[in-house]
Amino acid sequence: MGTMWITGGAGFIGSNFVRHALSESDDRLLVLDKLTYAGSLESLRGVTDDPRVTFVEGDIADPALLARLIAEHPPTSIVNFAAESHVDRSIDGPRPFVESNIVGAFELLEAARKLVADDAALREQFRFLHVSTDEVYGSLGDDGLFSEETPYAPNSPYAASKAAADHLVRAYGKTYGLPVVITNCSNNYGPYQFPEKLIPLMILNALEGKPLPIYGDGGNVRDWLYVEDHCAGILAALRRGRPGEKYNIGGRNERTNIEVVDRLCDAVEQFRPAADNDALKAQNKSRYHDLKTFVQDRAGHDRRYAIDADKIRGELGWEPKHDFESGIVETVRWYLEHGDWCKAVQAKAAYGRERLGVDE
Ligand SMILES: NC(=O)c1ccc[n+]([C@@H]2O[C@H](COP(=O)([O-])OP(=O)(O)OC[C@H]3O[C@@H](n4cnc5c(N)ncnc54)[C@H](O)[C@@H]3O)[C@@H](O)[C@H]2O)c1
Repeated sequence: MGTMWITGGAGFIGSNFVRHALSESDDRLLVLDKLTYAGSLESLRGVTDDPRVTFVEGDIADPALLARLIAEHPPTSIVNFAAESHVDRSIDGPRPFVESNIVGAFELLEAARKLVADDAALREQFRFLHVSTDEVYGSLGDDGLFSEETPYAPNSPYAASKAAADHLVRAYGKTYGLPVVITNCSNNYGPYQFPEKLIPLMILNALEGKPLPIYGDGGNVRDWLYVEDHCAGILAALRRGRPGEKYNIGGRNERTNIEVVDRLCDAVEQFRPAADNDALKAQNKSRYHDLKTFVQDRAGHDRRYAIDADKIRGELGWEPKHDFESGIVETVRWYLEHGDWCKAVQAKAAYGRERLGVDE
């Protein structure tokens, strides 16, 4: 039994991963999270009571805090989710992306380097897993997939900050022999995703009869993966991934944004028919599809992402368990059943689902 640090564990993927790690591993878990607008203890409800879990509110870019935590809870592994994660916010204000995603990753790497520096046995056992994104690779045309060999070509400040961190992580492996693993995953969806992101935003707007804003022509393609499958891939890479390697994670579920929104409208209809929804009736709208609205495109909007996940499938035996159809239905059901969570996290963030990333 060891001690796994999970940074950013109060966010979307991090909180799902904390639950996954509790059920799939015997490790003690130290969850470190700054509780930015995107992080909430509401997402860890029922989990922080577990005696194996210690929650610490704090910043991964704070070296004094990291030194204290290293002394009090020496990790056998660090899984770094902590980051600013929304592309539109990175367009409005890139600074926190540099501070958390680059400087934060650097400080975590420094803490890990010092921890294992004089302890060959610990270094052998220790892993630093950095959770990254397919957005570091830039944009694809109509064909082709991102492999682990695809050169980095980030287009948004968010993607650039993640790419910079990936390079630092790789360099700490090569230069200092720190046992690092990087995972680059496609777009996630599922429970506990903050409602600024496409899927929860569309579900909540549909339920409230608000416009469903579709950027540009709606033809941008993303490769969607259910968050639980991502968590299983991260744990596989942490346990069995080869130090110094990177692994792409994706489920070959390419959809245009417009296809995603259409599917969500159908799924919301299944659970809460538009004919019974007062917010739609008040506007004389009989279908959720009638709420779709085309809006100004995102600056620098990548056209298509698609992941070749053959390496993690072949080497680590990872397979996604959810297809897009079942994952979407589960997700819509979860948001319908967790209205209190939706209200609480938006209130904490003072967020009203307004458009971000454009001058208005
Ligand atoms: N969401 C996706 O589709 C996706 C896909 C691939 C990779 N990723 C990566 O996975 C990670 C988690 O993404 P997410 O969607 O869960 O993001 P999120 O925004 O929901 O959560 C991020 C969490 O990190 C915390 N945090 C931010 N800055 C911090 C700091 N300086 N110190 C400590 N905690 C801090 C926040 O409070 C929040 O709880 C990110 O690194 C992201 O780049 C996300």
